[in-house]
Amino acid sequence: MTGFNEIMELAKRRGFFWQSFSLYGGLNGFYDYAPLGSLLKDNIISIWKRSYMEAGAVFIDTPVVTPESVLKASGHLDRFADIASECPSCHAKYKLESLVEKNGVHNPPSTVEGFKEILKDMEIKCTACGTRLTDAYEFNLMFRVTNNSETFNLYLRPETAQGIMVNFKLLSNFYRGKFPMAVAQVGKSFRNEISPRQGLIRMREFNQGEVEVFFDPEHEEWSHIPEGEKMTLVPNSGPEIQESILNAFKSGVIRNSGLAYFVDLTARMLARSGIDSKRLRFRQHRKNELAHYSSDCWDAEVLMDEEWIEVVGISDRGDYDLRRHQEFSGENVSVTVDGRTFIPRVVEPAAGFDRILTGVLFHAYYTRDNGNRVLGLPCDVAPYSACVLPLMKKDGISEKARELHVKLVGHNQSVTYDESGSIGRRYARQDEIGTPYCITVDYQTMEDDTVTVRERDSTKQIRMRIDDLLMHDNIFRNDGLKKFVQSSKS
Ligand code: GLY
Repeated sequence: MTGFNEIMELAKRRGFFWQSFSLYGGLNGFYDYAPLGSLLKDNIISIWKRSYMEAGAVFIDTPVVTPESVLKASGHLDRFADIASECPSCHAKYKLESLVEKNGVHNPPSTVEGFKEILKDMEIKCTACGTRLTDAYEFNLMFRVTNNSETFNLYLRPETAQGIMVNFKLLSNFYRGKFPMAVAQVGKSFRNEISPRQGLIRMREFNQGEVEVFFDPEHEEWSHIPEGEKMTLVPNSGPEIQESILNAFKSGVIRNSGLAYFVDLTARMLARSGIDSKRLRFRQHRKNELAHYSSDCWDAEVLMDEEWIEVVGISDRGDYDLRRHQEFSGENVSVTVDGRTFIPRVVEPAAGFDRILTGVLFHAYYTRDNGNRVLGLPCDVAPYSACVLPLMKKDGISEKARELHVKLVGHNQSVTYDESGSIGRRYARQDEIGTPYCITVDYQTMEDDTVTVRERDSTKQIRMRIDDLLMHDNIFRNDGLKKFVQSSKS
């Protein structure tokens, strides 16, 4: 089983991500995407965007800085808090929910009083110095922005969703009053986590992709629910089941048609990104886990290092947000359709791209019999689709290879170039960062304009004409070439 440390070591050494500001000792909860990680993240976001564009969503982009009035209305100012404890000796701070779970409490409470009771009954110790923890308090997770010139308070947004909610009426005009409508946004969000976790799992600044799907309350259906493969579902009322999404909806395991549709879309989006469906489950929140705006929520959880980690939450927000914005802004946000006036209900699939990326690395990682490490990333997820390698640096071969590299990049391909070290060493370097194809330029290329194309997973090689590689913009991005190479005679 691949461990967190292996992934962190690979990420740092090969340039996927590393801790921010490490020159000055590092800043807890902040990570930089390094050259390969930023390409990988963009590819995962692209798949997410394509999935929602195919479903008919539109996209917007709103500010990160948010006035207090919006967050008062949304409930984040008063209720977006974790319950914390501070060590009386060394002053280390803990998110109590995680700490008590590690100490064997399976269903942690949701109130300060509940946690105080646990700290009274159980000996829960500071993991840094061993002192017993005794007190619990609420800790708001928002970052306030210092703004000397303004008379009102500003915060960094804790979710991208509110940028969509406050634009609901304008968006409804854009959609010409049709329902349902889906509006998506990708961007940074910020949470002042009490105890940020290893790597990209719990950061203070993170990459979110949220879709607010607005429904007419009398027609809560986005589209027909496909039959689909069986998936692992963990309802809050009983044991884990294997069921198709359609049957789960028909039998009432998933209560709402919109939720069911977007659970299925999420499963397909994650599979396209490289998440192994055998290491994916959908778990329904317990009542005391639900966010203040949510009446039901299914989390897509991915198995990493023997731990299930939430990567997407699909939440039923009802009309909570729009009703609160109507109340606090004094503006009427209801709409009239076919003579009926209503405030729409909202289903929200919210993705955390940093966590999805971590899961994708975990599930792609394997070692060959010779011990070499490989990232078996899908072709349209890998940072580079291909690497051009000159066999030799002499006799015009590297010039020819550089020319091919520039031409492939001109054909919209994410292609890199490597001429240092033995060819075997260079193949191994590309395997370790997940590059699906290595294209070798050699003496034969100088004669007949053909190259060797080596496929990463099978390590099979075939001879192809350069003209054929340049014929389609996305030749390396789909599985067609992979299947073609794998089925060819070497
Ligand atoms: N809007 C869901 C979340 O922020 O997690």
